[in-house]
Amino acid sequence: MFPTSMQDYASFAAVAVVSAVAIIGCVYRLYLSPLSRYPGPKLAAVSYLWQTYMRYHGLLPTKLEQQVKETGPIVRMGPNHLCFWDADAYRDIYVTQKFPKQEGFYSSFQIPYGSDNLFSAVHHTAYLNRKRKLMPLMSRQAVLSLQGLFQQQLGIFVSRIRPLADGHQSVNLFMAFRCLTMDVITLFSFGEAVGALQTPDFHANVATSYDDYLRGTHLNVHYPWLASILLRMPTWVQPNWLRGYLSMVNIGKESLERFQAGGGKQRDYPVLFSQHVEFRTGLTDDELVSDASLFVGAGGDTSGVTLSIGAFYITRTPGAQERLFAELQAAYPDMKDILTANVQDLEKLPFLSACIYESLRIAVPVSADLPRVVTGGDWHFKGYVIPNGTTVSSNAVAVHFNEQIFPEAHEFKPERWLDAEGRFSNKLEQWLVSFGKGPRSCLGQSMAMVELYLFMAAFFRLFKVDTVSRLEDIKLQEHFVTSPIGHDCSARLECRAE
Ligand code: HEM
Repeated sequence: MFPTSMQDYASFAAVAVVSAVAIIGCVYRLYLSPLSRYPGPKLAAVSYLWQTYMRYHGLLPTKLEQQVKETGPIVRMGPNHLCFWDADAYRDIYVTQKFPKQEGFYSSFQIPYGSDNLFSAVHHTAYLNRKRKLMPLMSRQAVLSLQGLFQQQLGIFVSRIRPLADGHQSVNLFMAFRCLTMDVITLFSFGEAVGALQTPDFHANVATSYDDYLRGTHLNVHYPWLASILLRMPTWVQPNWLRGYLSMVNIGKESLERFQAGGGKQRDYPVLFSQHVEFRTGLTDDELVSDASLFVGAGGDTSGVTLSIGAFYITRTPGAQERLFAELQAAYPDMKDILTANVQDLEKLPFLSACIYESLRIAVPVSADLPRVVTGGDWHFKGYVIPNGTTVSSNAVAVHFNEQIFPEAHEFKPERWLDAEGRFSNKLEQWLVSFGKGPRSCLGQSMAMVELYLFMAAFFRLFKVDTVSRLEDIKLQEHFVTSPIGHDCSARLECRAE
């Protein structure tokens, strides 16, 4: 059909101009842009749709790994984004160069949208101010002084698991451990646990909401208008990821309201909210909610996945469970003492330490690529010149499965963390990047390590574990945090007699 009126001509011209601009844009991105020399999927070079699709379906690390096998360690994964599948690049980006976080990516983690939290804050001074005020809460000393809180939740966990073991029922370790770590982090940050451990079958609202919410963050990175439109629609039109987001906002808001209603004096130990009050951080209520909701996810999900995937590998690796049990039994001959064990004593057990470090490696609890922006001039890396302003990232999967650093990387081998005398050796620790590295690495590392020691030790001292899931069932997917596809990692347990 040809245009016949002036109006038709105008519409035709508009369509032609938009198409020409789009075609020129694609040609530029594919053949003329300074990043056009780097290999990667063609769709990724012209649009962020490829990246968004892969992230949304949890496939990004798998696809990047495949691409790297075909074309080498640098992959163009967006029009202005290069991923470096290389351990030296990991160190350079996060530790040596200390490039800042990429704003668009991290602002998608604001809950509620538009309210910065500790994780999403990109601007240096604002971030440092916030971090300084919260550090006393997150330090190893502070966390060690609150061991009783962890042990209290551990007791509840064990009392939930025991009847299932006695009844020979299988337990979904992924869901069960996440309930434990979600209750711990909420107790720690709000002064009260969300009660995830009380939910039948461990299908806690807080965990499923967080899963749904995380999917939406992927869409939000490049298409933030989508959420703004959908939020104005009736609830029945809203997709699960948006409902997950709204539920996370509610969890944070309700906790803050309860804290404020109680005059902030519910607990005799400092929590996230009281720390803000004491240090007069001047944050708005929405910003407090944003920090609180972030803590629930950052603190609950990651430790939960490490415990469940770790327990899975310990159980299916010949000899590992028996060796761990023998070590724990020798240290805690009276089994009930494990429920009040001190972390500093547990840290002296070499095989337990080795199992925990190997779990952190193989589970890759955060398997997302962590985007940063090249600033302060072009970045020179191994003969490549990466232009100022380029988004660059690397990934823990690239480091943890590097055969030069971790031979037989796909095997669970706690022994790699032991020296010839069987003592724990930290020589590989520099390459364990589960908590990130550099100035924006994990603030909750001390807390996570305390959880891993207390909970892993108690679990294997009290129960004999037999995995039900197979290796192919626990294939991992990435929604920033890693999880087994289908969220199932099941085991049958038997209570130890002594
Ligand atoms: C096994 C458990 C954990 C793992 C593997 C883990 C991993 C990570 C990683 C890789 C980062 C850096 C992300 C990036 O650069 O984009 C990070 C940041 C962070 N994590 Fe964790 N984390 C864990 C537990 C925790 C816990 C228990 C908390 C406590 C609330 C926590 C709070 C945070 C915070 C606040 C940040 C942001 C730090 C910043 O932006 O400067 N994490 N975590």
